[in-house]
Amino acid sequence: MTGADGDVRSRSDGDVRSRSEEVPSRSEEVARIERDAADAIGAATTSAALAEVQTAVLGKRSALALAHRDLAALDADARRTAGKVLHDVRTRLETLVAARAQELGAAERAAMLEQDRLDLTEVTESEVRSAISRGRLHLVNQTQRELEDVFVAMGFTVAEGPEAETDWYNFEALNIPPAHPARSMWDTFYLELGQPETVVLRTHTSPVQIHLMEDSPPPVHAVMPGRCYRRETPDARHLAVFHQMEGLVVDHGITFADLAGTIETFTTRYFGADIHSRLRPGYFPFTEPSAEVEVTCTICRGAGCRTCSGTGWVELAGCGMVDPAVFEAVGIDPEEWTGFAFGFGIDRCAQMRHVIADMRVLTENDVRFLRQF
Ligand code: PHE
Repeated sequence: MTGADGDVRSRSDGDVRSRSEEVPSRSEEVARIERDAADAIGAATTSAALAEVQTAVLGKRSALALAHRDLAALDADARRTAGKVLHDVRTRLETLVAARAQELGAAERAAMLEQDRLDLTEVTESEVRSAISRGRLHLVNQTQRELEDVFVAMGFTVAEGPEAETDWYNFEALNIPPAHPARSMWDTFYLELGQPETVVLRTHTSPVQIHLMEDSPPPVHAVMPGRCYRRETPDARHLAVFHQMEGLVVDHGITFADLAGTIETFTTRYFGADIHSRLRPGYFPFTEPSAEVEVTCTICRGAGCRTCSGTGWVELAGCGMVDPAVFEAVGIDPEEWTGFAFGFGIDRCAQMRHVIADMRVLTENDVRFLRQF
C-alpha cells in the first residue's frame, strides 16, 4: 500500500543518479505512477485495505498529488497539457478503485451471509433430548385400552363408576348383607363407618354393575374398567391398589353358554390363539352359578411350570350368571331378564401377557421398566 508512495519518496528524497544519466521523462514518470497505483489497487484484498490504498495513491501526499504540485514550475501551456494528463490518470485510478471496491464489497457480503446463515432443518441437541424424554401411557393404561378394544369389537360399551362407594353399592346390592361372612372375601379400606352411611374404597368394579342397572333399563352390554383397593400386603401377584375390568350382559335369554363363549373369545383375542379358557365352579354372592376363569399359562403355554404349579392353567377371573337377588335390588324382573357378569384383573392381564415376574414393578414408576412397553 505504501509502495507507490514509497517509490515516489525514494525518488524525491534523492535517489542518487549520475548527472550523465537521463532523468526519466515526465510522461514515463506519470506512466509509472499510474502503473504502481493500479497494481496496489488490484492487490488490495479487503475493503479496509482498499481504503488505505486509495489514500496512498489518490490522497494529498500521493505521488500523483506531488506530480500535480510540480506543475507549478512549468509555463502555462505545458502546465495545461501536463495537467490534463494527470487529471486523466486520476480519473482512471478513481474508476479502478470504485470497481475494486464493488468487487470486494460483494465478496464480503456473500461471506457474511454464508456465516450468518440459519439452518432451519438442523436438529438441535435440546430437540433430541426432548424427543427422548417424551412420555407414553403406563403399561396398565395401555393394557386397559387394549382390553376395551377387544370388548368394544364384540359389541360392548365402556362405562365407569366412582372409586369411593357406599356400603350399598360395594356390598349390599351385590347380595352381601352386613356381617355376612362373604365380606371377608375382601379386606376393605373403610373411609366412613355408618353415619350417615358407610363409605369404602371399592374392593372390586362390581358396584358399577349396580350403577348401570339403576341408571338405565336393560338390555345392558358393558365393560367397566377401573381402580380398586384392598387392604393387602403387596406381593409378586397382588397389589393393594389394582385395576379390574368388569363385564355385564343383561338381555332376554342370556345363558351360561353366552358367558363361556364371551370369555373364550376374549381370551384368544387378547392373549393369542393358543391361549384358551376353562371354567371351574366357584362362589360369589352376586352370581349363581358362579365360576372361576382359568386360562392357559402364558409362561409354559400349557405345558406345566412352577408358576402354574404344573397344571398348565392359571386363575384370571371370577364370573357367573347374575343372581336374581341382584336384579331385585335394582328393580329388574328376574323372570324376564337374565344375564352374566365377569371381573378380572387388568394388572394381572398385563403380567401374564408380558410375563412380568413381580407385579410390584407396575407401581414403582421405574422408567427403565416402563419404557419397554
Ligand atoms: N368382583 C369379583 C371379584 O373381585 C369378580 C367377579 C365379578 C365375580 C363379576 C363374578 C362376577 O373377585
